Amino acid sequence: MARDLKGKRAIITGASGAIGQALATELVKAGARVALASRNEGTLNELAARLKGQGGDVLVVPTDVTIADQRKRLVDSAVAAFGGLDLLVNNAGVGSWGHFADSTEEINRTVMEVNFFAPVELTRLSMPHLTEGNQPAVVNVTSRCGRKGLPAWPEYSASKFALIAMCEAWRCEFARFGVDVVTVVPGRTVGGFEKNLLRRDGRANLDFHKGMTPEYLSEQIVRAVRRNKRELVIGTEAVWLLRFNKFFPRLTDWLIARKVKKLYAK
Ligand SMILES: NC(=O)c1ccc[n+]([C@@H]2O[C@H](COP(=O)([O-])OP(=O)(O)OC[C@H]3O[C@@H](n4cnc5c(N)ncnc54)[C@H](OP(=O)(O)O)[C@@H]3O)[C@@H](O)[C@H]2O)c1
Repeated sequence: MARDLKGKRAIITGASGAIGQALATELVKAGARVALASRNEGTLNELAARLKGQGGDVLVVPTDVTIADQRKRLVDSAVAAFGGLDLLVNNAGVGSWGHFADSTEEINRTVMEVNFFAPVELTRLSMPHLTEGNQPAVVNVTSRCGRKGLPAWPEYSASKFALIAMCEAWRCEFARFGVDVVTVVPGRTVGGFEKNLLRRDGRANLDFHKGMTPEYLSEQIVRAVRRNKRELVIGTEAVWLLRFNKFFPRLTDWLIARKVKKLYAK
């Protein structure tokens, strides 16, 4: 099924971030009406002004996705403004960079709240509206760490694995309501993610500047939503890591563990 995004009523979380801004811009370009959600109202207003200047129909809903009342307000506001909901894009996320043994329960819980519980509960709240929607879909921005747990990303990997598992279960559950599930599995992307880490104690080079641009990623996400892809693995490094790990899992772990040992031998 080819999905026409013109007139689609969408919510996007994490709309103040690098990927969220690019994705909202791409959705508006495709003709969707978009509710922009994140905590940073100032950045959302600036984005909204720019998108309105391009003819976009957008709504700003300041939202902390970890707070149940605010999630409800987000869904209610979008439905009231647009008269329904066709697309929920769960994009808000946070990372933590450092080894598990000296991390904290607080970091573990925060990462799980933002990256797992929030999108899952937002999806639950959206389902009654999506089932009434036009070519409805839930789009989840996960990570390569959600398909291969990586050292220094333990909490983050776990949160994205959990979200991907939920997407897989949803896909077959939601089919009877005609609601599609698109899972996005990106590799490193240029932008704010590395600046917003809860912790930054890892030893390898992060090199996020060598990643994809959020604009390229967003074009590919919108393409995948239009084509109703089940899963989009994107970014050269992510594609090769997951492919190599699929065929040579022991060797992959051995190579990664060897690198970790070298880094921590210093
Ligand atoms: N950048 C990468 O290399 C990369 C790679 C793979 C996957 N991803 C995933 O892509 C998504 C977007 O990341 P990004 O690169 O755009 O990072 P970013 O620039 O740091 O943006 C993160 C977004 O999440 C929002 N957010 C965080 N905590 C929130 C909360 N409690 N309530 C509401 N919004 C919250 C932030 O908004 P406020 O701070 O304004 O609330 C911001 O809009 C994330 O899910 C990330 O895991 C990123």
